[in-house]
Amino acid sequence: MKRGLLILIEGLDRTGKTTQTTLLFEKLKPNAKLIKFPDRTTCIGQLIDKYLTENDFELPDQSVHLLFSANRWELSQELQRYLLAGKHVVMDRYVYSGIAYSSAKETSGMDLEWCLRPDKGLIKPDLLFFLLNEDPSDTSSRRGFGNERYETLQFQDKVKDQFFNVFRALENYPKPNDRLRVLNVANCSIEKVAQEIWSIVQEKLAKEPPSEFTFF
Ligand code: TYD
Repeated sequence: MKRGLLILIEGLDRTGKTTQTTLLFEKLKPNAKLIKFPDRTTCIGQLIDKYLTENDFELPDQSVHLLFSANRWELSQELQRYLLAGKHVVMDRYVYSGIAYSSAKETSGMDLEWCLRPDKGLIKPDLLFFLLNEDPSDTSSRRGFGNERYETLQFQDKVKDQFFNVFRALENYPKPNDRLRVLNVANCSIEKVAQEIWSIVQEKLAKEPPSEFTFF
């Protein structure tokens, strides 16, 4: 049986990732699963949720990083099972967010290598979309922006730089790469972005799927 594809959508806060993952999932259904990180329903996910939403709940940055990674490992076997059963998995955030957000915290001394370490061995996506909004005021005007811990324009700017550093380190960015697609979504309608994603996904689906997994 052909294995399914792991299709990941990454981006800064409130760039429309969740909308786009849901739309893509709807198009691929019923042969698809949707996974969102952080998964706030697990025990570890509940701790992460508390940290993100309660300002007086403090944890060392290193511990928080390891919780996000542990949350991915909690679902890693399920993920592999779905893919081997031929289901496509649409994913909302993953390892790239993990590294970009943690390494953007300048005072904690966690560099890219440190941040990647606990995620080593997780399955790599077959396709990775990065939704980039070059107009930060657009991001901050989105509904709900500012409610959670990392949602300040200054921090989001650092995270954006870190995402590109991660892409340079892990995906040879800006050299052409058939995994990573950076989409500039500033002033684009939801439909236009969805269409662009769908045409790239269809192109990938038309090709012979890779049989082997690659790992971080
Ligand atoms: P998410 O629920 O995707 O928020 P949003 O829908 O607003 O984009 O993610 C919550 C926050 O967690 C977000 O600020 C990014 C951060 N995050 C990390 O710091 N590390 C991680 O490994 C992940 C997956 C998310």
